[in-house]
Amino acid sequence: MSRPYVIDQMISAKEIAARIEALSKEIRKTFPAGERLVVVGLLRGSFIFIADLVRELQDREVEVDFLEASSYGNAMESSREVRILKDLRGEIGGRNVLVVEDIVDTGYTLSHVVALLKSREPKQLKTIALLDKPSRREVDFRADWIGFEIPDEFVVGYGIDYAQSNRNLPYIGKVRFTD
Ligand code: PRP
Ligand code: MN
Ligand code: MG
Repeated sequence: MSRPYVIDQMISAKEIAARIEALSKEIRKTFPAGERLVVVGLLRGSFIFIADLVRELQDREVEVDFLEASSYGNAMESSREVRILKDLRGEIGGRNVLVVEDIVDTGYTLSHVVALLKSREPKQLKTIALLDKPSRREVDFRADWIGFEIPDEFVVGYGIDYAQSNRNLPYIGKVRFTD
């Protein structure tokens, strides 16, 4: 059923850490120091990125929440139909919100989530994605902050899966099929 493949490293753990440190400085400039920031991770792909990002914001008052939106399931193609599988636990009306995503591909997932969360009238809502594949975009959407812009490669690791595997790699790699 599954094709044989190997994973070639594309972005090292060290490069990711350095980029997150730089991004956290930008985030700090945008959100007021005295106000609590609600950091929202999109499950499941963002779980490692959000864990590293909030620890770079350890000097801030941060609340962590999660939302699960799935469009891919186990497929390699976007279904273009975004389903909310798990909503936030907390309220975000009138609050500072940062939505954290692993990758923006077609743009359907993050644009759908942003529209949903903006309807709850947060004070400020910003988005950050570790990876961006602009060549794949199907809806007009751009995250406020991006870690790395990448070409149209099938990437895994640092939270990102291929058929629910490889999320636990500490680096970003690209899948190369060997058949
Ligand atoms: C992947 C990825 C992003 C989304 C990006 O999630 O983590 O959330 O797809 O694709 P898009 O821009 O084309 O919408 P997936 O639906 O595979 O769920 P997962 O995070 O649980 O792996
Ligand atoms: Mn995802
Ligand atoms: Mg996935």
